[in-house]
Amino acid sequence: MEEEEQKSSSRSTQILAVDVNKIGDFVFREPDVTFLGDWFINLSEDSQDAINLCQAVKQLQTSSLPVAFPTETVYGLGADATRSAAVAGIYAAKQRPADNPLIVHISSLRQLHQLLDSTPGSRDDCPDADTQGRIPAIYDPLISRFWPGPLTILLPLPDPSPLAPAVTGSLSTFGVRMPSSRLALALIYLAGLPIAAPSANASTKPSPTTAAHVLHDLSGRIDLIIDGGSCSVGLESTVVDGLTRPPAILRPGGVSIEMIRQCTGWEHVVIGYSSGGSAETSAPRAPGMKYKHYSPNARVLLVHGRLSLDLVSRYPLARRKVGLISTMTWRVEDLEFPQYSVTRDHDALATPRLDVYLRKFAIKKLAPYLPHHAIEDSPPVNGESDQHAELLQVSSIDLGREIANIAQALFSALRELDLDGVDVIFVEAINESGGDAAAAIMNRLRKAAESEIES
Ligand code: TXA
Ligand code: MG
Repeated sequence: MEEEEQKSSSRSTQILAVDVNKIGDFVFREPDVTFLGDWFINLSEDSQDAINLCQAVKQLQTSSLPVAFPTETVYGLGADATRSAAVAGIYAAKQRPADNPLIVHISSLRQLHQLLDSTPGSRDDCPDADTQGRIPAIYDPLISRFWPGPLTILLPLPDPSPLAPAVTGSLSTFGVRMPSSRLALALIYLAGLPIAAPSANASTKPSPTTAAHVLHDLSGRIDLIIDGGSCSVGLESTVVDGLTRPPAILRPGGVSIEMIRQCTGWEHVVIGYSSGGSAETSAPRAPGMKYKHYSPNARVLLVHGRLSLDLVSRYPLARRKVGLISTMTWRVEDLEFPQYSVTRDHDALATPRLDVYLRKFAIKKLAPYLPHHAIEDSPPVNGESDQHAELLQVSSIDLGREIANIAQALFSALRELDLDGVDVIFVEAINESGGDAAAAIMNRLRKAAESEIES
């Protein structure tokens, strides 16, 4: 019902820019202490950035419409995690399935302890009374090494729980993380609330890494987007479960599996998500991992090896527009187009912060390679001649060889090519054992892709 109301009453969605360097001073109570310790903010009184941020804080505290805000991983869609109406607003805006739990974001360990300790009275009746209110010790090395940062840990839900039930659905655990984005930390700190926040995309779409991506998906559904620029990591947090033996990684993400294995107690961490390919039967342990995700409107094909025109020509192309995303082994300039004339159209910045360009080409005389039905199915554009109908438009983005850069720009690239209206996006697969975020990138690509092909 509420969902219907949100859909029909189209809102005007406001983007407020906030430069975190201009909101005031972050003050740490002890020298050399990070955000894990005690800290506060002295807001600058006449900073427009501080005023904008405070508008978002007020909305989080009083409204049931979520606020989109940047974190270092992706943009989140945040609401007061303790207020049911506010949490319901997230599910409505995103059209997210109710059985997919949300991650709770905190700005200090003190805040997390308060959340866990909010249980009144004696816990003598509880078999694990001694762990009530405490963070299990297995997480200590992870917290000190990776927080604040792109790591989500699962904790037992305190009983009674201060969190709105919809945050976790029927689960007895909740996911929590302390983001490293200072803008996100400031927002959470100033709101004085634990903030439930999924990625701020429409359900099934690639996660947003800029305010423009959020606007594209949620325009008219929310009132406010805080624009803090593009996200530095570009992939969501790694989700780990240290409550089981052995501990497990439920979603690969910004902190790599190798880095987690280096921590005491995590040497034998197991993979609790589907890595694709093999015939796995068990359900993924993070409910969100079972959904189609990260999918642009165009079909996505994951290519192992170098792309060829032969490969491209196997797919029907109603609009004769192809998107290419290259990474490790080839760039569009390296591809051979024998007997074809290639016209460079133009370059446009696709992800400005990384200098990633969208390059446009037109390739002529592709007709012999196109399956016959693909040509016949497509009406000639504005009655143009067959000659023109042989044109293939190629929009290409090279993400470079650096895993961190590929991770940062990947969702942006998928969205750019989608906006370009391509029929199919061919994405180059990367070597999963390449370390860092390689496994996380391939996990997202497999979810976006309808199939994998060998060249
Ligand atoms: O980087 C991130 O984690 C971003 C930013 C905004 O912080 N958030 C994010 O949230 O990616 P979301 O809702 O898109 O993904 C949360 C994932 C889902 O796969 C969900 O199933 C899993 O975490 N999850 C959350 N709580 C869980 C729980 N108690 N048990 C198992 N999985 C859980
Ligand atoms: Mg998500």
